[in-house]
Amino acid sequence: MKKFVYDLILEAENICNLTEDRDRLLDIVSRGEKVVFSGRRNTGKTSLIKSVVIPRVKKSHPGMVVVFADFMGVANSEEIVGRMKKALELALTEKNPTKQFIQRLAAGLAYIRPVMGFDPVTGAPSVTLEMPAGRSNENVDAIFKEIGKIHKKHGALVVIDEFQDISFVGNAEALLRTGLQNLPAGLPIVLMGSKKHLLGRIFVPPDAPLAGWGRYVEISRISTQHYFEYIKERFKSNNLLIDYGGVEFLQKALQSIPESINIVCDKLLRSSGKGLHIKEQHIRHAIKNAVEERNSLYQERLSFFTGKEVVFLRALGFDEPVKQPSGNRFLSKIKMSTGSLGPLMKRLENQAVIYKTDEGYVVGDPLFGWFLRMSG
Ligand SMILES: Nc1ncnc2c1ncn2[C@@H]1O[C@H](COP(=O)(O)OP(=O)(O)OP(=O)(O)O)[C@@H](O)[C@H]1O
Ligand SMILES: [Mg+2]
Repeated sequence: MKKFVYDLILEAENICNLTEDRDRLLDIVSRGEKVVFSGRRNTGKTSLIKSVVIPRVKKSHPGMVVVFADFMGVANSEEIVGRMKKALELALTEKNPTKQFIQRLAAGLAYIRPVMGFDPVTGAPSVTLEMPAGRSNENVDAIFKEIGKIHKKHGALVVIDEFQDISFVGNAEALLRTGLQNLPAGLPIVLMGSKKHLLGRIFVPPDAPLAGWGRYVEISRISTQHYFEYIKERFKSNNLLIDYGGVEFLQKALQSIPESINIVCDKLLRSSGKGLHIKEQHIRHAIKNAVEERNSLYQERLSFFTGKEVVFLRALGFDEPVKQPSGNRFLSKIKMSTGSLGPLMKRLENQAVIYKTDEGYVVGDPLFGWFLRMSG
């Protein structure tokens, strides 16, 4: 059903536009190329890949093994092995394998042993992989080598979401470089992430282990026209009206972040009288209500920050976008030295709490930004 969905991976029908990104990714995958696909948090990267790109790839290449791993929050190389292993197990299980398939697969593999089992709940066949314990470096290599072999036989696609989180694991870049370089040419790989500054550090400096790896695609910003059509269609269920200017205001107030726009539109849809023509004042009211509804969540979020971080965030919330946080004007506002500001901002940027746009630094989650202004 067409609605304003948030907090979830979207099904294809609820994804607003992103058709150019879809086509670019499909083209890259069909050519067997490698891509870093990045974009700010909550802009639809995972939804586009999982609900549109992967299903289409599977449809056009029915035998293909699609390995989707999520590196969100990986803390050490054992966890990287764990996530890759799970992803490959799922990819093989999705093929509804027969015993013979597993036997033939096992015969072609050297480092890991596929074992056929049954899902305890559904009874459907499932595949688990056995590999030597406690040798995480060798095991990362081994998994990539085996995926390479599977690709040669069946065709494979590797997607790794939140790839930048390897930055917090010592030696992971070198480890994954070996793995990725061992994959055969022509095997498409999509590495995704939401923290541009960390992805930049992994792929850009000439001396970085993964320097110059693959192409770089940044997810597009949804145009006002596309969001206008999307909102109008969903507002119809309560006969709400909105004009182009209203959508422009929504995008500006919420930094064009689709998830925040969906939250506020859902609020408008559920709380406005039938047939209302939505104007700027209604949008402001809905933003206020949405923030108030999340008050305890945001208060709790604040409790995880240090006193100085809270002072910085409130000041940023009021002044965003801030081009030069280390400038005298902003520093005197937060009563901090450049020496302590640098590490503080790095921490917040690494957690995606703040984000650097072309216009300057902003609070990463636009509704949290409104909360900081409303409660400061
Ligand atoms: N194109 C879109 N159309 C409508 N809603 C969208 C779109 N893109 C993102 N959203 C909203 O953002 C939410 C998060 O989407 P998704 O998880 O796919 O984004 P993401 O970019 O992978 O985020 P993260 O970086 O946090 O992983 C969705 O539940 C939805 O509310
Ligand atoms: Mg995501």
